[in-house]
Amino acid sequence: MFVVSGSASRSVATHLARELSVDLADTEVRRFIDGECYVRIKSNLENEDVIIVQTTYPDENIIETILIRDAVRDFNPDKIILVIPYYGYARQDRKFQDGEAVSARAIAEILSIDIDTVLLVDPHKDYITEFFKTKALACSAVPEIAKYLMDKNVDVVLAPDKGATWRAKKAAEILNCKWDFLEKTRITDEIVEIKPKNVDVSNRVIAIIDDIISTGGTMAKAVSEIKRQGAKEIYVACTHGLFVGEAIDKITAAGATEIISTDTIENSFSKVRVAPQIASVLRDSIFKLNCI
Ligand code: R5P
Repeated sequence: MFVVSGSASRSVATHLARELSVDLADTEVRRFIDGECYVRIKSNLENEDVIIVQTTYPDENIIETILIRDAVRDFNPDKIILVIPYYGYARQDRKFQDGEAVSARAIAEILSIDIDTVLLVDPHKDYITEFFKTKALACSAVPEIAKYLMDKNVDVVLAPDKGATWRAKKAAEILNCKWDFLEKTRITDEIVEIKPKNVDVSNRVIAIIDDIISTGGTMAKAVSEIKRQGAKEIYVACTHGLFVGEAIDKITAAGATEIISTDTIENSFSKVRVAPQIASVLRDSIFKLNCI
């Protein structure tokens, strides 16, 4: 068995190979002078089970994934598993207006070709896995994020909206603390109040957990409201830290104590590794089910 790393996911791939005690394939990925991608796999993958690990964001990493798959396929491996730490395009998961592309479905269909099983980490919605034309599973980085927060004495874990409550609940179970979600209430035409549905945050240590931080707008708003309501410390955590534009500055200025993301997108806030959760699903669901 081999793990093949795409250039966007070296950290996840390296740690996954270590977790599974398997080899990391020797690969060469580079760009031609015109920007086109070149992929070569130097390890012999013939009759092996192969786990490709590659985040499909930004767009250039989708092309790289397709080329890696092509190179892998030509070795005639036994099985190919595609692990996508961050699956981009997941937020366009339906037609919001007539005539729009359902991007999450379109990319999933392309990435399904010649793949036996796909494994996603915290896809934006659960049903994203159903867009793949092959067996697709999901795992969550939340237990690893909770482990990171273990020594921060968190009193309450908050979800930024009701739909993300399960993440707050899961982390709170591990941290043995309270959980809640932020609710928007319209007070007047101009004033919208954002506060936890049930829990008082004053003088408490708070962690807010979301799947994605992109522009940072959602988190910055949540942090400033919680701060205004008297929170003592506010830890901001997400699985996928896109941190577009001024996201970090916005969240910091709002009063966050610390910003934490995982290595699904590698950056200086990638303090949490997702490989243990991926390895656990591969061991428990995929290997056991004899899909590989
Ligand atoms: C929304 O449904 C997501 O869970 C995130 O809350 C959202 O994508 C964050 O985006 P931004 O950082 O741009 O506010």
